Amino acid sequence: MIQSVRGTKDILPDTVGYWDFVESSFRNTSHLYGYKELRTPIFEKTEVFSRGIGEGTDVVNKEMYTFHDKGNESLTLRPEMTAALVRSVVQNSLLHDSPLLRLWYFGPFFRFERPQKGRMRQFHQYGAECIGSPNPEADAEVIFLADSLFRSVGIDDYNLFINSLGSDESRKTYVAELVKYLKSVKEKLSDDSILRLETNPLRILDSKDNNDISILKEAPVIIDYLDEPSKIHYNEVIQLISDSGISFKINPRLVRGLDYYNHTVFEFQSSILGAQDSFGGGGRYNNLIEQLGGPSTPAVGFALGIERILLILEQTNKLRQSESSPQVYIVTANSQFIKHSLDISNKLRNKNIRVMIDLQKRSVKSQMKEANKIGAKYVIIIGDDEINNGILTIKNMQTSEQKSVPLNSIENFNYI
Ligand code: HAM
Repeated sequence: MIQSVRGTKDILPDTVGYWDFVESSFRNTSHLYGYKELRTPIFEKTEVFSRGIGEGTDVVNKEMYTFHDKGNESLTLRPEMTAALVRSVVQNSLLHDSPLLRLWYFGPFFRFERPQKGRMRQFHQYGAECIGSPNPEADAEVIFLADSLFRSVGIDDYNLFINSLGSDESRKTYVAELVKYLKSVKEKLSDDSILRLETNPLRILDSKDNNDISILKEAPVIIDYLDEPSKIHYNEVIQLISDSGISFKINPRLVRGLDYYNHTVFEFQSSILGAQDSFGGGGRYNNLIEQLGGPSTPAVGFALGIERILLILEQTNKLRQSESSPQVYIVTANSQFIKHSLDISNKLRNKNIRVMIDLQKRSVKSQMKEANKIGAKYVIIIGDDEINNGILTIKNMQTSEQKSVPLNSIENFNYI
């Protein structure tokens, strides 16, 4: 037997309804905010991500599924969407027709990480990006959207952490100060953090090493290095979120794992998840569009991990399936009447009613059992008497109530 690849998972027919429910709730909520879907290919030229996400990041350095195709082109399975989406926006000149774009996406992503609960090598994200506004209201809008998405599926208990990385200049000044401090305590840092001191010092703030964490308590914080415009933007975002009633905490050490961020960064966490407690995150990326060859355009967005959202829903008993099980099951008591079953089922489907029939010519008992198992609300029984009299019996499986309905108007019954 050939097994699936480590860190990937089949979504089986019994659970796909949970996915479908989240996807359709997210789709509807996106439309409430005027966001339109964008779909891009699963793979891109490697430079989309190496240039977009940054050479010093774990995603680019360690986690990308990069390969050379038969034409010797370096391609990468997308590890995230923002860089790919910006590539598409620039290539298709979408900003030309509409200087403000509100876009959302849903799909599989790939990162070579060590699999564990909530961490997969193929995982799924929903994301939204608001491109074209430098204003704090855009930051607020995407956070409102995220909160509405959570509520649409039943998540109302989560932590939102916010920070600002400021403009490029304030970030540069801060990083220099941070490196100065960390170099002064270098011998106490973990090996990983010593390496990052050269490659990506900001990420040291994210270290999970206990020793590093205590050293970081004394480290300078970025807020103290924000220039005036960055401070104003940040304070306005904070004010708008406070006014909306969404609760949040300021986390001056939140930096996020991708290089394109500046100004606002935020993350959604849930203690239910254990080690992988972050189920979504995002922020501003005012330079990325220009960096990938487009016009200088401010943008802000976020992405949510669907596997982690489903874990939260499962652990809080909030999992819901979208409606897909048949409303009606037709029991054919005499297999020579299967033609009638086919005919009736088509009539009902034309009326938008979900119907299933027995294709194995089994006993009435087995068919009733199946109707029960699949959760059909009604059963229509077709036997000799029914066909001879032209009157069918419809049984409500929840109440066991039975009704007689003429065969020629069977599709007009209310099966809801
Ligand atoms: P990210 O924080 O790298 O951000 O990923 C967003 C979410 O995807 C995470 O919070 C997590 O829930 C989920 N995720 C990431 N890696 C895995 C994994 N290996 N297994 C399961 N879930 C995972 C981004 O990707 C940015 N593009 C977000 C963004 C959009 N920023 C601005 N716009």
